[in-house]
Amino acid sequence: MNLEIFFEIHQGLPREGPGNFESTQRAYSLLTDLPPQPLILDLGCGPGMQTFHLLELSNGKIIAVDNHQPFLEQLYQEAVRKGVQDRVEVVNADMSALEFNPNSFDLIWAEGSAYSIGFKNALRCWKPLLKDKGYLAATEISWICSNPPEELKQFWAEEYPQMQDIESNLTLINQAGYRLVDYFVLPELAWWVNYYTPLEQKLITLSQKYQDNAEKLAVIELHQREIDLYRQYSADYGYVFYLLQV
Ligand SMILES: C[S@@+](CC[C@H](N)C(=O)[O-])C[C@H]1O[C@@H](n2cnc3c(N)ncnc32)[C@H](O)[C@@H]1O
Repeated sequence: MNLEIFFEIHQGLPREGPGNFESTQRAYSLLTDLPPQPLILDLGCGPGMQTFHLLELSNGKIIAVDNHQPFLEQLYQEAVRKGVQDRVEVVNADMSALEFNPNSFDLIWAEGSAYSIGFKNALRCWKPLLKDKGYLAATEISWICSNPPEELKQFWAEEYPQMQDIESNLTLINQAGYRLVDYFVLPELAWWVNYYTPLEQKLITLSQKYQDNAEKLAVIELHQREIDLYRQYSADYGYVFYLLQV
């Protein structure tokens, strides 16, 4: 894929995946054994909307990790603007090879990011970083119907072949040695308001800008296809918030 257009599409959006304050709040409220000032690791933080929601919901400190420096800069500037920079640290690192000490975090948060290294792999890599009774809160795109339509199956077989249904993810969670606290499907609004609506606006502008550039147009159209499929088939798959404890 042409990375230049990929990052031009994704730069400056409010979020980089489905999510909203209500879902982050609901997930956080299910983690009842957290200390008063938890140390939180926000993995694949992107521009950081959920980081700021977590700062609002907790009294803790957050280490926000991403491997795309412009997102970290956007996040840090926003932290300064909000006057919360003493509670956030940004770290440019690969979330599949983190160098934090074992047993360091009360909570690992990963909205829309575990898929980047594969959900199963993420469960395995991140567990040692959690303290005893620490939590992992992660959203993962998951089938929510038993028999998705063929065109949808084919699209996601190419884009994310490891995508599973909820039952299979619960099995992975169990096999990786976590206790399931709870799970819920994100509402459709969480896809549209902060993510697909601004993304779609941007695709319209960029498809005009690059109308003579077939390579860039192909990337723009792939994003548009993803949005169109969700518009048509949102009953068949969703982002699921999985709340886990070690
Ligand atoms: C779909 S976005 C989600 C961003 C944010 N959590 C949100 O919900 O808006 C996934 C993020 O993970 C980051 N990412 C992908 N692979 C990564 C890796 N191996 N290590 C660290 N960050 C990674 C991307 O740069 C991107 O910001």
